[in-house]
Amino acid sequence: MAFKPLLHLLLVSVAVSLVLPATSALNIEFVYHHFPQMTAILRQLANEYPELTKLYSIGKSVQGRDLWVMLVTSNPNEEPLLKPNVKYVANMHGNEPVGRELMLHLLSLLLDGYGKDNYITWLLDNTRIHIMPSMNPDGFEASAEGECSGVQGRGNANSADLNRNFPDFFAGPPKVAVQPETRAVMDWIRQTQFVLSGNFHGGALVASYPFDNIPANSPKNFRKFGSPSTTPDDDVFRHLAETYSFNHKNMYLGQTCRDGSPPFLNGTTNGAAWYSLIGGMQDYNYVWGSCMEITLEISCCKYPRSFQLPQFWNDNQKAILQYLGEVHQGVWGRVTDQNNNPIHNATIKVKGREFGSRSTYRGEYWRILRPGTYTLQAEARGYDSVELNVQVAKGVIVQNITLYPQSSTYYEPRSDPTFQKGGLVPSISPVSNAASYTGATVKGVWPTYTRSLKPKEAVIFPRGYLYQTSPQFIDYSPTSNRLLLNYNYFGGK
Ligand SMILES: *[C@@H]1O[C@H](CO)[C@@H](O)[C@H](O)[C@H]1NC(C)=O
Ligand SMILES: *[C@@H]1O[C@H](CO)[C@@H](O)[C@H](O)[C@H]1NC(C)=O
Ligand SMILES: *[C@@H]1O[C@H](CO)[C@@H](O)[C@H](O)[C@H]1NC(C)=O
Ligand SMILES: [Zn+2]
Repeated sequence: MAFKPLLHLLLVSVAVSLVLPATSALNIEFVYHHFPQMTAILRQLANEYPELTKLYSIGKSVQGRDLWVMLVTSNPNEEPLLKPNVKYVANMHGNEPVGRELMLHLLSLLLDGYGKDNYITWLLDNTRIHIMPSMNPDGFEASAEGECSGVQGRGNANSADLNRNFPDFFAGPPKVAVQPETRAVMDWIRQTQFVLSGNFHGGALVASYPFDNIPANSPKNFRKFGSPSTTPDDDVFRHLAETYSFNHKNMYLGQTCRDGSPPFLNGTTNGAAWYSLIGGMQDYNYVWGSCMEITLEISCCKYPRSFQLPQFWNDNQKAILQYLGEVHQGVWGRVTDQNNNPIHNATIKVKGREFGSRSTYRGEYWRILRPGTYTLQAEARGYDSVELNVQVAKGVIVQNITLYPQSSTYYEPRSDPTFQKGGLVPSISPVSNAASYTGATVKGVWPTYTRSLKPKEAVIFPRGYLYQTSPQFIDYSPTSNRLLLNYNYFGGK
């Protein structure tokens, strides 16, 4: 009867409204988004804001869910020199999903605020912000809303606790096999030089900073009762943690979540002083990623009911934004040789702080420091080391560093008299992991010399020449003045 076409029309209009939502993806509902909905929102935001976003996946979870990351920045397809990379990772424990939702609201806030809000515009113009709403999407799907404590969904689909799964500075490789989610994050950190990071958790209200673990030779009761295990960058970490807690609505008050648990002064704590753990992500970021990461515990209840999400967003919003800006404090610059060619993998350390960072393939380095006077130490294989004093005030000081080839190994191409005389030009320097060079013969075409390599040796040559490494020729004109032979002539097979 007349009923049928009407129903049909109704269905069509429902279908259309599902496909073409009337509203922008910026309107994030205060509910928990399961994986398909979260993915849809990320895709839609990426479509709506191609000039501010790039959506990428760093790998897949055990059950095959993408580990999504949204890059938010002006000109996401360009990488201007020295524009720092920062990241937020949430929901590493599947049953601690408040951060996961806050990340979606953060995306919306940043995209909507660009061009309207001065601070957000400045942030996106000067920072590459990588946001991972869920590092453990499988664990999330296994958890239940309203569960304030407990461990259901904490681990990944192999029940591995991802925040115990990283190589540990004090304890070595993890006891449990490195999980796909952990591996993906490790690769991500290796491929991108992140400078600052925050890792969102739940179950407490505190900003906690490295180290989480303690030296292996610590007295037994250190582990039991909690004793600080500080990094040489303790001043920086304290400041970062306080930036979060003091910009949070109430974290800085240090109120405890449970009767009997100790208060956190200022809402911050050294990780090990709270309790020590092995294989955590923040220690890994600091030691192996040269990235200052802190752990943000943002809800007493691990998986609070969704009606509380507006309150959590309200409490954390300012802290989340202010923390990102902290990357613009310290010293950064480029490491180059005397011809302005970038030097990759130079070590840049601050004297007295043993954990250095390494320059990118474009020679960039970044270092967050509090205002003060520091000595920078830069070194790279084949170059003379350099020490420089820098005065850090509020904000960033740019300090480019020029390294000169080790006096004994550098020869100006053609113009160097030693070279023209046909003397034994190349100097030999030991190279670790160079076992496969054993027995190779290296011959300069002009002038002539021959030198048989000993095990673990490599030859340092001037740039821009043809060299014969019998029987092949190598046209050696890359940006570094090192020739590394990657094959084995006489020793192999
Ligand atoms: C608390 O914060 C204040 C202000 O930054 C600082 O002076 C004080 O040392 C902090 N106390 C602790 C225990 O972190
Ligand atoms: C970087 O330098 C360190 C120490 O000098 C070395 O162990 C490492 O293999 C180098 N990495 C690359 C990618 O060259
Ligand atoms: C440092 O190097 C960058 C990139 O090469 C350059 O743009 C900048 O002007 C240099 N800064 C200083 C202070 O030399
Ligand atoms: Zn957690």
